[in-house]
Parts: sequence; C-alpha cells; structure tokens
Amino acid sequence: MPAISLYVHWPFCLAKCPYCDFNSHVAQDIDAIKWRDALILDLDMQTRAACQHLGVAEGQLFLTSIFFGGGTPSLMPPFIIADILDRAARLCITAPDMEITAEANPTSAETAKLQGFYQAGINRLSLGIQSLEDEGLKFLGREHSAKEALTALEKTAAIFPRWSADLIYGLPQQSLDNWQKQLAEITTNEPAHLSCYQLTIEPGTVFHTRHKKGAELTADPDRVADLYLLTEEFLQQKGLAAYEVSNYARPAQASRHNLNYWQAGNWLGIGPGAHGRLTSINGRYNRINRRSPSGWLESMGTPAAGLEGEAIEQPQDYFNEYWMMGLRLTQGVNWPAAGQFGDPGLQLNSEWLDRFIAEGWLIANDEKLSTSLEGRLRLDMILSHLLD
Ligand SMILES: C[S@@+](CC[C@H](N)C(=O)[O-])C[C@H]1O[C@@H](n2cnc3c(N)ncnc32)[C@H](O)[C@@H]1O
Ligand code: SF4
Repeated sequence: MPAISLYVHWPFCLAKCPYCDFNSHVAQDIDAIKWRDALILDLDMQTRAACQHLGVAEGQLFLTSIFFGGGTPSLMPPFIIADILDRAARLCITAPDMEITAEANPTSAETAKLQGFYQAGINRLSLGIQSLEDEGLKFLGREHSAKEALTALEKTAAIFPRWSADLIYGLPQQSLDNWQKQLAEITTNEPAHLSCYQLTIEPGTVFHTRHKKGAELTADPDRVADLYLLTEEFLQQKGLAAYEVSNYARPAQASRHNLNYWQAGNWLGIGPGAHGRLTSINGRYNRINRRSPSGWLESMGTPAAGLEGEAIEQPQDYFNEYWMMGLRLTQGVNWPAAGQFGDPGLQLNSEWLDRFIAEGWLIANDEKLSTSLEGRLRLDMILSHLLD
C-alpha cells in the first residue's frame, strides 16, 4: 500500500509581510463554504488520480501526515479543517498516529481559536513567532507583539501534544547576544521542535525592492554564519539536535510531513499553488495547481480543475531534486541505485565531490552521503558544483 502525505494550502493572511514570497494574499469576503467545497473537490479528484498513477485500487493509499500551510491557516474556520480531515479519512487508510499539523500566527484573535483547531483534529501546531522582540517584529512587519507571541506559546503548549515555533535570524546588525537571548527565552518553554530560518531577500517582495535601492535589511554574511553556528550549538545543548538545515528537534520529534518531502516521498498538494509528487514505475510525476486564489477557485468548477501543469520529470530533474532535498538532512542520503531516476548515467560531479569530502564538508560511506555542519553552511554552493 503506497504511503502518501497531504498538503493543504490556505492562501490568505491578515497582511502581507515585506519579506514573504509565499503564495499569500490579503482578501476581504472569503466565502468559507465555497473554499471548503473546492478544497474537498481537489482532494477527491487528486486522490482518485493518485490511485491510478500508483496502480492501486481506490481507497488503498496509506495517508501518514497532513499539513495545513499558507498563507495563514489559523485564519481558516475550524469546520473546514474538520471537513477536510473527515473526507481524507474516507478516501484513504489513515495511519493510526497520523501527524496533522497547522501553521498558526500568534495574534490574540488566532490564539483564541487554538482550542477549536485541536478539536477539529490538529495534533501538531507550528507557530510563526519569528522574533521575541517588538523591534524585530516591527522590522518584519508582523501583526503581533512579543507579548502576544509568548501568550500564544503558552496556550499552544497547553493544548497541543506536539508543537513547533518558527524564528527568523540575521536581521540587520543582529548581535550574537541578541539571538542567544531569544533562543534562551524560547527554550524555557521546552519546545520539542524549532525552525530557525535565516532572513532571505526573496525576489518579488517589498524587502527585495528596498534592498535593490540600497537599504540594509540583513546582517552581513559573516555574522549570519556565526548566528547559524550559534543556533546549532545552543540548541544542541538544550537537547534539540539539528536534523535539517533549518530544523531542530528532540529525538523522534522531527516533522514527519517535511521529512517525506526531503526524502522524495509521495504527496498530494491541494489548494492554490500547491505542488504534488508521485513516484511510480513511470517516473516521478509532478503536479502544480494554479497559483492565483481566485483563478484556482473558479477553475475548480471547470474541466481544468485547478491544474496549472503536470509532467513526468526529466531524469536529470528528479536526480537533482533527490540530492537537493536529501542533503538538507543531517542523516544524509542513500546513494541511489544506477537507473533509479530513469537514466543510469546520472552522477554527481566526482571531482567536486572528492574536493568537498577532503574539505570535511561532505561525509561519504558505502551507504550514504551527508553534510557536516560546515558543509550545511555552504550547501547552496556545494550543490551548484555537484549537480549539472
Ligand atoms: C508559510 S511561511 C508562514 C507561516 C505563517 N503565515 C507565519 O507567517 O507565521 C513559513 C515560515 O517561513 C519563514 N519565512 C518566510 N519567508 C521568509 C524569508 N524571506 N526569510 C526567512 N524565513 C522566511 C517564516 O519563519 C515562516 O514562519
Ligand atoms: S509570512 Fe506568513 S503571515 Fe506573513 S505574508 Fe507570509 S504567509 Fe502571510
């Protein structure tokens, strides 16, 4: 029975943060029933198509995790979540300990809804704290204060059996001391999982425009590298080991849903702009939904049914994705069997591979290739040399 994950995209936010290039939009008058029905229709159709792709009878997919991402899923009415979970359980065989995560923002209005999300079936919450300082939150254009973030953290920890928080570091002039204080504060709440992201200037964002005009919006690269090293060392001491470039967890608390992406598993993506991947004897099938929320919604009632594009990946693309995703994980990636991607000739650049191993940035044995901490600091550069 093929294992599969489900990603559900909710594309709406209270405000657009100036650094964010996710498919997120500010909208008035969201018709909740229409959105619920369209998401469920997408789920129905994609589940049926996945059974065909994977060569199994309907109802024979084994669903191991669900992730409500965005956008801001904590703005969803909880009944939509409950209805999607109910439908997923009818369409698939669900794992007994299925991980069901939702992203949430810590404004007080959303914190008041947390119990409702738990009752709807969410068993893991990912809280977008970003900073524990009002100055940092203002710089990032966030809608919540540091006090609201701490209240949301406490309430989350009291309600959800598993939870995580997102933080962003590398703000302009951010000192090691400032970052360590935030890490110390968040770990007093005993998270079992944290995501710490380096502030990145993404094309198409307000920060990108300001950056092009010369505004200083990030710490300098050497400082950012020091902040990265500090994060890993500090969190390790607190029992949260790095398991991916930006993710830290206590034993057995890694995000199972995200592990499935990094390990080239199967998943369905429903909602605007969502991606999906399915591997079968025919290759790696790649599907992407229409990105525009209104375009996707209107298209759900037509034969196009929300689809932007679909293809069987070229062997080189599948090979590149396998390594780009897998080397993010500290546990590394198995050497693939020749021909696994449809072309037995695909290989990493052996000259660069040897050099990076000699530098101590990559670690190789008969089974696996993995990165060292110094290697993860340079992962983009390493991948650009290893892959065609
Ligand atoms: C889908 S986003 C946001 C989820 C939720 N709406 C929020 O804002 O908390 C997931 C995470 O990506 C991170 N992120 C988004 N844009 C980023 C950027 N430009 N640089 C670094 N981290 C970013 C943030 O930490 C965010 O919590
Ligand atoms: S960071 Fe989160 S809240 Fe801000 S615009 Fe992006 S998805 Fe929305």
